[in-house]
Amino acid sequence: MPLFDKEKARDEYEALAKEIAHHDRLYYQNDAPEISDAEYDILRKKLEKLEEKYPEFKTADSLTQKVGAAPSSKFDKVQHLAPMLSIANGFAREDVTDFIDRIRKFLGLADDEKVEIFTEPKIDGLSFSARYVGGKLAAAATRGDGVTGEDITENIRTIKTLPVEIDFAGEVEIRGEVYMTHADFASLNEREDGKFANPRNAAAGSLRQLDANVTASRPLNYFAYNVVPEFGEATQVDTIKKLKKLGFQTNPLNKLCSNVDEIFANYEEIYAKRPTLPYDIDGMVYKVNRFDWQRRMGALARTPRWALAHKFPAQQAKTVLEDIIIQVGRTGALTPVAVLKPVTVGGVVVQRATLHNEDEIERKDIRIGDTVVLQRAGDVIPQIVEVDLAQRAASARKYKFPSTCPVCGSDAVREEDEAARRCVGGLICEAQVVERLKHFVSRQAFDIEGLGEQNIINFWNDGLIKTPADIFRLKREQLL
Ligand code: IVH
Repeated sequence: MPLFDKEKARDEYEALAKEIAHHDRLYYQNDAPEISDAEYDILRKKLEKLEEKYPEFKTADSLTQKVGAAPSSKFDKVQHLAPMLSIANGFAREDVTDFIDRIRKFLGLADDEKVEIFTEPKIDGLSFSARYVGGKLAAAATRGDGVTGEDITENIRTIKTLPVEIDFAGEVEIRGEVYMTHADFASLNEREDGKFANPRNAAAGSLRQLDANVTASRPLNYFAYNVVPEFGEATQVDTIKKLKKLGFQTNPLNKLCSNVDEIFANYEEIYAKRPTLPYDIDGMVYKVNRFDWQRRMGALARTPRWALAHKFPAQQAKTVLEDIIIQVGRTGALTPVAVLKPVTVGGVVVQRATLHNEDEIERKDIRIGDTVVLQRAGDVIPQIVEVDLAQRAASARKYKFPSTCPVCGSDAVREEDEAARRCVGGLICEAQVVERLKHFVSRQAFDIEGLGEQNIINFWNDGLIKTPADIFRLKREQLL
């Protein structure tokens, strides 16, 4: 093998490792990934391929040797009572029937013996484990590497619907998924200038805060779905009932199914409901209902044999990007927005997609007139996954990001290590003033009931309000 090739491969390997480490930091520490899961998987695959070809590149702390993500050193560590495992994925119906066949075979069941499967929506959030000792909430942790998680005890306490005391004397860990609703995500992101790519990252970023006061200001919810060791109940269906009785949130869409037909009918029903649910789900989770059977089946290294995640197909569609416009936020951040030829994605008509910032347009090489692949990760704001280069027309043109504010004409400046370019106009910028007024009345600020965004825009257009103080000077007849 020519030495030159190997040197080149080594350079590529090191560059890849650096890039992956960068994205790991963005995902696990900042909760703000810049690339999709699929794009990340491609980088990982490349790294693995290079290691296969040149095993000498591999060291003890190579990225390929690590399972999950070690807890961040910023947090104290919590040892789980039992490992927090992952679940094997299935996509096709056949994967589900195979799963049921495997269960039958493993347990040596007779043909007439039925296998009850407890089905739960797979919440796209962040898993947590909350330990109760003598009926009191004693500790809480993220999954971390499955054995040790990050201590988020004070953060979890800020979730109002999670009981701090329960009527159960032993030591148990209640596990579940923390999530943020679409509506809460949208208003948080408005407040934070589009910092989070989707509700999952917003939930993770909110829970993994060193200052629990920040978590307290973020609207988080959860569903509980697991208890270790068990409560003494014999099945998953009874455990969920007991969780509910103890005061935990459980998903009302959970359902016990007694055969595959019921499982598939339920999958279709929930899949159809998905666009109307207030939170993201990315599939269904199937669990053997009987715990004695679960125990007999046991687990592989990363996943139990008694569970399967039946993933929903990605909600994708192709359409033409007709234009790029700029929105100016409350803090002056210029956010590029794609204007799309209307298309239906996952049951919803989409005409706009966020482009996040100028680097994103550059990185994905998005041009006006391009055919783009859109994806709704279930969340409200669709994303552009990639450009369909095969369909790029000669007339497609590059977008030049403005260096002045399109609303007030002031300079738009990008500070070092900031993703956003900002209008420096401050209060002379109408967009910023109106956005501030909207924020002022919103739920995160003064929470003025009955005074919504549209009212603010109307009052502004009528010249009735210019500053927040004007809101309090509005006369009854003006309001009507
Ligand atoms: S059960 C051993 N139930 O999906 C099984 N997990 O891909 C432990 N998840 O790490 C998990 N909804 O973060 C379970 N209803 C549900 C779930 C669920 C979402 C997440 C969880 C888990 C991941 C596995």
